[in-house]
Amino acid sequence: MADKLIIFDTTLRDGEQSPGASMTKEEKLRIARQLERMKVDVIEAGFAASSNGDFGAIQAIASQVKDSVICSLARANDKDIARAAEALKPAERFRVHTFIATSALHMEKKLRMTPEQVYEQARLAVRFARQFTDDIEFSPEDGSRSDMDFLCRVLEAVIAEGATTINIPDTVGYAVPDGYAALIRQIRERVPNSDKAVFSVHCHNDLGMAVANSLAAVKLGGARQIECTVNGLGERAGNTSLEEVVMAVKTRRDYFGLEVGIDTTQIVPASKLVSQTTGFVVQPNKAVVGANAFAHASGIHQDGVLKARDTYEIMRAEDVGWSANKIVLGKLSGRNAFKQRLQELGVALDSEAELNAAFARFKELADRKAEIFDEDILSIVSQEASAAHDHETYRFVSLSQHSETGERPHAKVVFTVDGSETTGQAHGNGPVDATLHAIESRVNSGAELILYSVNAITAGTQAQGEVTVRLAKAGRIVNGVGTDLDIVAASAKAYIAALNKLDPSAEKLNPQRS
Ligand code: KIV
Ligand code: ZN
Repeated sequence: MADKLIIFDTTLRDGEQSPGASMTKEEKLRIARQLERMKVDVIEAGFAASSNGDFGAIQAIASQVKDSVICSLARANDKDIARAAEALKPAERFRVHTFIATSALHMEKKLRMTPEQVYEQARLAVRFARQFTDDIEFSPEDGSRSDMDFLCRVLEAVIAEGATTINIPDTVGYAVPDGYAALIRQIRERVPNSDKAVFSVHCHNDLGMAVANSLAAVKLGGARQIECTVNGLGERAGNTSLEEVVMAVKTRRDYFGLEVGIDTTQIVPASKLVSQTTGFVVQPNKAVVGANAFAHASGIHQDGVLKARDTYEIMRAEDVGWSANKIVLGKLSGRNAFKQRLQELGVALDSEAELNAAFARFKELADRKAEIFDEDILSIVSQEASAAHDHETYRFVSLSQHSETGERPHAKVVFTVDGSETTGQAHGNGPVDATLHAIESRVNSGAELILYSVNAITAGTQAQGEVTVRLAKAGRIVNGVGTDLDIVAASAKAYIAALNKLDPSAEKLNPQRS
């Protein structure tokens, strides 16, 4: 039987470290459920010591997600590790992932510790973690730029203390495929007890080589776990993309000879959920999950695909979860049809009340739009689930807006502030500008708008627009997403969603900066 390649998803931890990608507990839970449905082996649910919010999210995921191992990151100190273990307690199977930097640069400049102190702290951290679980992962941060002799000494010590997974991060995305693969192979050859641990890779994409580095380390270095994120989400240029490594190993089984347990039909739903939740839009030409990944524009290709699919297609769109943009429901569809379609899409709402509210939103949309696609349904559900769980200071009510050639546009936005209705009015350079100023005329947030983008959820002029707004204030960056048939209303909703996330009490530690 072929070896198994373990898929370790860190969308909810390393992915969330991406500025603006922070998620609420409910959003994380929804993504964790989707990762479980996709049969991810290990879900890194967060960094428990970073904030009460992260602790709560890990605890909720540990209580409700049973088919995947649930993991929390922890710096190599007793306090972080105890906090991680506490959050993970309700899980059926859990892992503590502890780390400390081992490169000369990080030890001297960031940690201000000597190599001996780091060696000792790593060893003691793993020893401490052993009292909570047998499933311990250790990462030497900036491993790919660490001194080989020192790295091997540390790894031998932590394995002797009980670490069962050794993860070698390319923290700054500096590695190249053959060098990184050789590093993993040499570590495995030189560390005397390396056979007692599974070797894992964790690559960042600063030079666009995260997937290549991870796959090289698997094929040539003997790594058997890849750490990755949905859509490659992550700080700077992101992490290794889950969909790309999974489909590479599945499609080229002849080359890799490895088993992956992932249900690939859940990949596109996961991609859409993560993108809608975080506001990080997927580029159209992104492998596997981009809107154009299976589109054949040229006549020659179309002809080839129609005659024999494998002339130009190495994967089948339906195998990764693309459904042909089906018109699934319409104005006359009832609650049962809506519920059934949700089940077919693998969407579980938490309560009847949420289902009723989502159905009401669906009816509202169906009154304005003749054809409702799966994408519309997913967006409705996503918005409903957020509205049902997240604390919202501001809530959109209605918008009226006037623009005419030669005149300065004017907008009037009605919204609630802690339940009380208020109205903002303003002129602006365009309808969107006027709308955002109208909101600000009542809120005075002092936030800076650093990104505004619009996407169509489906094809055609009847499509709903999905707007992402990114705001920055006092060093914090947040994203808000809003959808509506009217893109100006979608903009107002997105802006309000971002304002709701600016709450300073949501502040949390970055594990690698502190
Ligand atoms: O990139 C990195 O080094 C990390 C570690 C904390 C595993 O994310
Ligand atoms: Zn990382």
